Amino acid sequence: MTCIRSEIIGHGHYLPAKELTNDDLAKIVDTNDEWISTRTGIKSRHVAEKDEYTSDLALKAAEMAIKTAGIKAEEIDAIVLATVTPDNTTPATSAKIAGKLGMRVGAAAMDISAACSGFVYALTMADNMIRLGQMKTVLVVSAETLSKITDWTDRNTCVLFGDGAGAVVLRAKEGNGTSEDTGILATKIYADGTQYENLLCNGGVSTTQTSGYIWMNGKEVFKYAINSLSEAAEEVMKMGQVEAKDIDWLVPHQANVRIISGVGQKLGLPEEKVIVTIDHQANTSAATIPLALSEKMTDGTIKKGDLVVLNAMGAGFTWGGALVRI
Ligand code: COA
Repeated sequence: MTCIRSEIIGHGHYLPAKELTNDDLAKIVDTNDEWISTRTGIKSRHVAEKDEYTSDLALKAAEMAIKTAGIKAEEIDAIVLATVTPDNTTPATSAKIAGKLGMRVGAAAMDISAACSGFVYALTMADNMIRLGQMKTVLVVSAETLSKITDWTDRNTCVLFGDGAGAVVLRAKEGNGTSEDTGILATKIYADGTQYENLLCNGGVSTTQTSGYIWMNGKEVFKYAINSLSEAAEEVMKMGQVEAKDIDWLVPHQANVRIISGVGQKLGLPEEKVIVTIDHQANTSAATIPLALSEKMTDGTIKKGDLVVLNAMGAGFTWGGALVRI
């Protein structure tokens, strides 16, 4: 039966120029490359300059996505930005990007706050708007300047995060309703508010009138992550009526290489099908998935027709997955 699918017609990514290696960090806090590499898989991360904002990173990724899509910004009906580090408390940073991109006046702009699950949440919202027939072309962007909410004196957290942005352009296309269709085949998003205190920024507009710094119960996050990420991947594969053996690539949220391999093993996916970019990007929250996806589509690793599972988990706790044929 024919149906509307949201096809990824463009992709983009951007990392700020400034790079901070584990050795650089060892000069700031009591840590070392060996501890960070073996516990997390991170070797270096990119960090925005003081006057380089989330919207600047997002704009670069969005421009690349629009260029690879071969469309004009005026053709975009909506921009959905996932971020926890907006330029201003209000308005939405997506509105600023829409203006800078030259999107037409009247096209919708919204920000989504779902922490590290932000891209999967934003993709789900965009896909639903497209499948309902409300929008034809939607720009989904994830961008973060986590360095600005990182406590650079806390070795428990400062070694884990980085800055970056990724984007995709989605466009409505008729499909046959089978797993052979290109585009988004299934999405599923979740939250568990009882875990609110286990991973958060310890400030906020309504509470402290400051943005605060990232704080977490690392062990609790670690335990929860493997099960929730596996659950989301299994659910979208079931919804799309495909099995692990059909999957070409798992593009997971990049928080810790040990979490990523644990999830890959639980799903029964061979190591070579699991995309890992955490070594040079660290955890860029909502941006890790589109950054990894775009980087691997650009270098030809992920190709047209490949079947890809995306999954993410983060503060809230929130988590989710998407099944996509490129
Ligand atoms: N360098 C050196 N030592 C460090 C350190 C650092 N950067 N950070 C912590 N340590 C120390 C701790 O103080 C602790 O020392 P102690 O035993 O003397 O108290 C020791 O290393 C072990 O710490 P522990 O917390 O047990 O390490 P771990 O194996 O649980 O790994 C994380 C810590 C943070 C890497 C891990 O828990 C994790 O990745 N959790 C998930 C975090 C995450 O992904 N959050 C974002 C989700 S979106």
